[in-house]
Amino acid sequence: MMHVRPVTGSIGAEIGGLDLCRPLSPEDAGALRQLLMRHQVLFCRRQFLTIPQQKRLNVVFGPLYRLPYVQALADEPDVIAVLKEATETNVGVFGGDWHSDFSFLKIPPAGSILSAVEIPVVGGDTLWANQIHALANLPTELRRKIAGQTAVHIGKPYGQTEAPAMASRAGASMRMSRGDPAADQEVFHPLIRTHPESGQEALFVNPIYTTRIAGFDAVESSAVLAELYHYAWQPEVCCRWQWQAGDVVIWDNRTTLHYAVNDYDGYRRLLHRTTFSDGLPPA
Ligand SMILES: [Fe+2]
Repeated sequence: MMHVRPVTGSIGAEIGGLDLCRPLSPEDAGALRQLLMRHQVLFCRRQFLTIPQQKRLNVVFGPLYRLPYVQALADEPDVIAVLKEATETNVGVFGGDWHSDFSFLKIPPAGSILSAVEIPVVGGDTLWANQIHALANLPTELRRKIAGQTAVHIGKPYGQTEAPAMASRAGASMRMSRGDPAADQEVFHPLIRTHPESGQEALFVNPIYTTRIAGFDAVESSAVLAELYHYAWQPEVCCRWQWQAGDVVIWDNRTTLHYAVNDYDGYRRLLHRTTFSDGLPPA
């Protein structure tokens, strides 16, 4: 019997009573999809999924999505290893600022699943922020100002002209391809997007990939982005997950931001990640 424990008043729920190693019944699969829409992030302890089991779970939420730029496992092109070795100190970490995954693509992924293989004794938490509530919390004037506006997203960590030093963006254990001119192309997405299934509106902007608001001049764009970011990850819309080996976390990439906390130098951290698609551009 499935049970649900919200982990904050805004976002995230821990799901118990489910064995994700087995194929889900259509009822349980439907219930999980509904719970994801309601809570944006689902946490399940002690699952210890194999890679085939994780891929099967992924398909409950959408077709497997092959991530560009990040090297997949040699024999599993749909799975990436999110890895930082104990020997990698003083480096950045994959996902180490608030972001929505690959928001610079015309069709960003709908969501992802992480399965924890090896976790530091302490540290290495992940935070998620509810962008439906972030939008709802905006002052009326600010909300009015961004209505109908679009933001420019660029894959700057992966591109050429904007590419920062590699070490500042990810540890050496994550193999990324850089210098792709396609990643430097501006992609326009609405600042407020509508979830294709729930119809809920969410703020859609992040400091890794968003460079400016298209309709504003540079000064106003920076000022408005700074104001939006204040609401995007204020503690009232966040949850923070302390990983244990065997954990499975599923999140909706359309209505959340996330942040990988890099506070575990000297420890190895390994998670397997799969990603699902809805095949739709933000609307
Ligand atoms: Fe990420």
